[in-house]
Amino acid sequence: MVAPRRVAVVGAGHVGLVTAACLAYLGCEVTAVDSDLRKVEALRRGNLYLHEPHLRDILDACRERVRFTTDLEPVVLASEVLFVAVGTPGRADGSVDLSGVEGVARGVGRVLGGAGRERPLVVVNKSTVPVGGGDYVSRLLREGGAGEGSFRVVSNPEFLREGSAVLDTLFPDRVVLGGESEEALEIMRELYRPIVEQSFPSPIEPRPKREVPLIVTDLASAETIKYAANAFLATKISFINEISRFCELVGADVGEVARGIGLDHRIGGAFLEAGIGWGGSCFPKDVAALRAMAGDQGLGMPLLAAAEEVNLAQRREAVCRVRSALGGSLEGERVALLGLSFKPGTEDLRGSPALEIAALLIMEGARVAGYDPVSAKEAARRVPGLEPCHDPYSALEDARAAVVATAWEEVRALDLVRAAAIMREPRLLVDGRNALDPEEVRAAGLLYSGFGRG
Ligand code: UGA
Repeated sequence: MVAPRRVAVVGAGHVGLVTAACLAYLGCEVTAVDSDLRKVEALRRGNLYLHEPHLRDILDACRERVRFTTDLEPVVLASEVLFVAVGTPGRADGSVDLSGVEGVARGVGRVLGGAGRERPLVVVNKSTVPVGGGDYVSRLLREGGAGEGSFRVVSNPEFLREGSAVLDTLFPDRVVLGGESEEALEIMRELYRPIVEQSFPSPIEPRPKREVPLIVTDLASAETIKYAANAFLATKISFINEISRFCELVGADVGEVARGIGLDHRIGGAFLEAGIGWGGSCFPKDVAALRAMAGDQGLGMPLLAAAEEVNLAQRREAVCRVRSALGGSLEGERVALLGLSFKPGTEDLRGSPALEIAALLIMEGARVAGYDPVSAKEAARRVPGLEPCHDPYSALEDARAAVVATAWEEVRALDLVRAAAIMREPRLLVDGRNALDPEEVRAAGLLYSGFGRG
């Protein structure tokens, strides 16, 4: 089979844009479709709104193969493969808002209904949809007007992380495909061949690895792999956070413990960094969605419930430490929050532990000054009362306590002596990411409080 060349990606958000750029880099003619005209115009001007390493380089390398548009119809007609990569935000009850997916599927269905095709369009669910999402999309395509033979649905969950999305896409640990149609799966195999065989000019040197395992399975299993992977990683972090509390009681160092257990290849050393826990647009949403899906079938998931509980407890613990160091009340106290995005290297504030800590501190009467190299202003818009600071020292000025919430380089490289000079007693520094050297912090005259560090 010949590899498909004309690919559409609907939704030019984080996942969609990176997917579009990487497929174009690998040689496909890609059109990214987004309903937001301003976004599309910005992208046409070469203005990337994402803080994502390597994205600009690979787009520059294949500029002539990527187009941006708001117009779905001609793209559906011209494409062999269409990725659905729109947002699927979580709702308060843990369920998933599928209105974006629904809109795209019905729209694609309408176009397919009015067109004769030689070969069915392969519609790929890249968005994280609840298990059963593949069948749901098929139904919507049909309801939109698509004839039975005009499309095939495939699930292709993504495992990219914000901040390393391009390299995660080009050098993944595995590629997962789920579907019922052999023909569609074969087309997807061809599309992913360069990644599986690692047969493309690497944008970075040295190239990290060679063979990429390809898992081809049924729809439900592919969809479940996505949820299970995120739930496992979130649970792993909660596990090390629980161990970090134990370490504090017995005088152990969680960093040493993580290294000691992580070298066991059955455990693995990644995602064992203790602190104020996991956030972002994926882990909280996907763990909640998995629990909600299980709950709908009458299945409790006590392990995941505990992982969520441990995670929230870490954030509350940071606030608790500030409160007790300041004598039991936060009323009128100035507290600095260093780092606001959910992790370093991204502007993304969704599900950020920092924002919850800010809100908790403000609720108790604290005056919170938040520093972030990229998203201070937006954070202040989201958390009423948060004072945005564009350098860490203006946040620390006159503060009696500070919380490191995101381990940005700018925070790791803090001039501790200067920090101590501008803060007021007791000069508490809660290191919510275990990002600083406790000895150096203490030597500068600050009171250090890390997580699980003896
Ligand atoms: C996560 C997964 O890692 C990706 O594989 C997945 O594709 C993505 O969700 C998704 O479903 O779209 P991401 O949300 O970008 O990626 O962020 P991570 O790097 O996984 O970090 C998540 C959170 O865990 C962050 O708040 C981070 O600070 C925290 N974390 C991570 C820890 O607290 N400790 C660790 O050891 C690692």
